[in-house]
Order: sequence, then C-alpha cells, then structure tokens
Amino acid sequence: MFSTGAKGEKRILILGGTGDGVALATRIAAIPGVTVITSLAGRVVESKMPTTHGRVGGFGGVAGLVDYLQEHQIDGLIDATHPFACQIKFNGAAAARKVGIPHLILLRPSWKPQIEGEDGVTDHWIEVDGYEKAVALLPQLAQRVFLTIGRQSLPTFASLQNLWFLMRMIDPPPPYTPIPMGKVILERGPFSLAHERSLLQDYKIDVVVSKNSGGEATYAKLIAARELGIPVVMIQRPPVPVAEIVTDVESAVGWLTTLLAGLG
Ligand SMILES: NC(=O)c1ccc[n+]([C@@H]2O[C@H](COP(=O)([O-])OP(=O)(O)OC[C@H]3O[C@@H](n4cnc5c(N)ncnc54)[C@H](OP(=O)(O)O)[C@@H]3O)[C@@H](O)[C@H]2O)c1
Repeated sequence: MFSTGAKGEKRILILGGTGDGVALATRIAAIPGVTVITSLAGRVVESKMPTTHGRVGGFGGVAGLVDYLQEHQIDGLIDATHPFACQIKFNGAAAARKVGIPHLILLRPSWKPQIEGEDGVTDHWIEVDGYEKAVALLPQLAQRVFLTIGRQSLPTFASLQNLWFLMRMIDPPPPYTPIPMGKVILERGPFSLAHERSLLQDYKIDVVVSKNSGGEATYAKLIAARELGIPVVMIQRPPVPVAEIVTDVESAVGWLTTLLAGLG
C-alpha cells in the first residue's frame, strides 16, 4: 500500500500551519530514506515554515491536490492543519482517497472547561456552534469583548456596534475589511498567564470569545478568565472527515514508522 518511490525514497506531504506541523516535519526529516515536504496556505505573512522542504499556496481544490500528490510522487499525506481549517481537511481526505495513499490527521485535543478544579472554581463557558451564534449572544453578556479568533472572521462581529472589542491576531486585517469598534493588537503566541491577566484587567474585559483550538500556546487566556470570573464564549470545532486521527506528534511519528516497517 505504501509505494516505493524513485531510489527507494519515501515522500511525505504534511499539510501544515500549526506548531505541531513544524515539530512533526522536524521529526520525520530525521528518519532515513524519507523526504518530508510541508505545505502552507500562505495566510500568515511570516509563517512558521520548518527548515525542511516547503511549498506555499492553495492547490486549487481536490483536483489540484490530486495533481500535486501524483506529480510529486507523494507516498503518504499527513494533515497537521489547525482544528478550524475545515476545507483543507476534507480536500486532503478526498485527494488521498483518490490517489490511494495513506492519510492521517493530526488533531490536538480540544480544551475542556474546568469543573470544580483544585482551586474549587468552575469555568463559565458558553459553548456555541459557529461565529453567528456568538454574535447573537454577546450583547446579552457583556460590553467589552476580548476577541481571539484571528482575523478571518472579524467581519462577522462588525454588526455589533454597541460593544467594544479588543481584537488579537498575528497579521492585521486586510485594508477595507469591516471590523468591530475597538482596538487591534498584533501578537503571536505563546502567551503567558501574566500577560493574559493584564490584558483582561487593563482593557476591563467582561467576556472572552475564543475558538476551541486546543494546545498550550493560547490556553493562558482561559486560566486568566477563570481567575477573574470572566465568561468565555467558546466556539466549537467544525466537523472533520472520516480518517485515521491521532492527537499528538509522537503518535503521528508512530503511524508513519509502522507504515514504513510494513514495507519489509
Ligand atoms: N482557521 C484557523 O483558525 C487557523 C488558525 C491557525 C492556523 N491556520 C492555518 O492556516 C491555514 C489556512 O487555514 P484556513 O482555515 O483558511 O483553511 P481552510 O478554510 O480549511 O482552507 C481554505 C483553502 O486554503 C488552502 N489551504 C489551507 N491550508 C492549506 C495548506 N496547509 N496548504 C495549502 N493550501 C492550504 C486550500 O486552498 P485550495 O483549495 O486552493 O487548495 C483550502 O481549500 C491552514 O494551513 C491552517 O492550518 C488556520
């Protein structure tokens, strides 16, 4: 099933865009006889590209990805995209199936609200499906919002004229993008608890809006919200395609090692 490429080399394509994708590429690059290529969408101006091979930009849907996999004689596809990158996950699954190559999704676990933790505190999360539900809810909840959803979905919140937003993202929104009233801050995680606590206090935030991205890099805002008794509107993850799924880099390396060993 795992085909042997020219000169016996195996070629693995990682769909990246996460810290896990970078870590995985570094681990796979150390496996003898394996070439790893990381693909990024190119959304972030200074992307975290691993030091191994890379390419940037969309493929042109499922058909474009199928062409790429065939032209570059890719033997296995590992999707390490962000939990909210839904389209590329379905495209990856469909393209791998068409080409007939092994396919894995590396998806870190979602965050869970703390219920009566060691500190006796229970998180006040309101879990919603999608940005529109968050928009509908916010006016009843608060006046000053910490919006930590990146820049792509900012326009959805622009209709909330009577609220004030602290909006955090890596790169600024493109010119003429409608955004809510407030302040944009440009920062890339990981963020410390002290940093997140002072943002919430300095800007007198009374609700946090977050995607349930999981991982440690941006978790501190949720601890800070818990400490300060601030509610969190947590946007639930979009669906994932039917696929083999692992939740950490080590398991993805294990999956690949098993495939390679199967070659004999
Ligand atoms: N969504 C988030 O919250 C978020 C957060 C942090 C990082 N990211 C990263 O940012 C990238 C784009 O996210 P998204 O939510 O816009 O994705 P998406 O909605 O799932 O994908 C939209 C389109 O972008 C292209 N694309 C996405 N990821 C790609 C990749 N790794 N390599 C090549 N093309 C890719 C594909 O274009 P074609 O159809 O033309 O191939 C895809 O159809 C992903 O790599 C993701 O890991 C996303």
